[in-house]
Amino acid sequence: MQALLDFAREVRDGLSKPGQRELPSIYLYDEIGTALFEAITLLPEYGLTRADERLLRRHAPAIIERLPPPVLVTELGSGCGLKTRWLLETLARREPVGYYPIDISPSALAKCERELASLGSVSIVGLEKSYLDGVREVASRRRPGQTLLVLFLGSTIGNFDRPAADVFLREIRRCLQPGDALLLGTDLEKPVAELLLAYDDPAGVTAAFNLNLLARINRELGGDFVLRNFAHEARYRKRERRVEMHLRSKRRQSVSIREAGFTCTLKADETIWTEACHKFRVEEIPGMAARTGFVCEAQWVDSEWPFAENLWIAAPPAATS
Ligand SMILES: C[S@@+](CC[C@H](N)C(=O)[O-])C[C@H]1O[C@@H](n2cnc3c(N)ncnc32)[C@H](O)[C@@H]1O
Repeated sequence: MQALLDFAREVRDGLSKPGQRELPSIYLYDEIGTALFEAITLLPEYGLTRADERLLRRHAPAIIERLPPPVLVTELGSGCGLKTRWLLETLARREPVGYYPIDISPSALAKCERELASLGSVSIVGLEKSYLDGVREVASRRRPGQTLLVLFLGSTIGNFDRPAADVFLREIRRCLQPGDALLLGTDLEKPVAELLLAYDDPAGVTAAFNLNLLARINRELGGDFVLRNFAHEARYRKRERRVEMHLRSKRRQSVSIREAGFTCTLKADETIWTEACHKFRVEEIPGMAARTGFVCEAQWVDSEWPFAENLWIAAPPAATS
């Protein structure tokens, strides 16, 4: 019930913002959105997930050997956790493994638990929580002497504005002890045309993923969005180095959302901003680590689709800025 009230409030606040209207990207991931996101990861235009997986498959031994046993693994926004298999398998050859995937999507967690159930000596406990609540819970459950490995893959860090990413990473650091690790996946800058295709594929899967947010508001909050009156758009903002997903109103129209007690009128061509995907330079990552209380221990870059896997180690508190 509280979750629905929060959803209604955030939708009302986002749609009544002066200037650019917004909807929070966290609400893209209901059951349908989760399934559509999985389909996106298979699209030929969306090389990000395959690059992430190639790096994990190739470098899992080098990642794991840098972490002193025993290791406890948690993953922020695990989704269905397919790529994580490579790390868990490698670790399980060395020791019994505890793995806590954290995700707000129950269907993602259920799939993750199913997909990874076949891994021997890995015990999986899914946590249906937000990132920070989840990681705090895992930190409270760890046993003395365990190294905590936090995975934040898929460049989901790019969904935060850059200053908010620093704040978030500092919060994660606060949950860790010196010597714990964060494996951070970051999608790197690439030609704009390639990026725009990745977020606006010709088959329209990303468009369906984006439009499903309006459909979800209709289903759960009694909205009356007419989906045909909106178009998906991907835009690249050069200065911010990010792709933005928008929903463009094709005409002047009014929309009511019963549970939010809210009505608004959208002008023709006005957009609702739904997601940001910031892109990175490999050389800026060690600075991000240093600013947020970590040391960047190693980086691996994919040669087909520029993407970096970054292993950060939690620095002692004195080094935390
Ligand atoms: C972009 S997907 C990435 C999934 C997977 N890690 C990957 O790399 O393919 C983001 C995932 O994070 C989850 N998520 C988004 N915001 C979240 C939040 N604030 N707390 C917990 N999970 C969140 C979504 O449900 C989704 O499964």
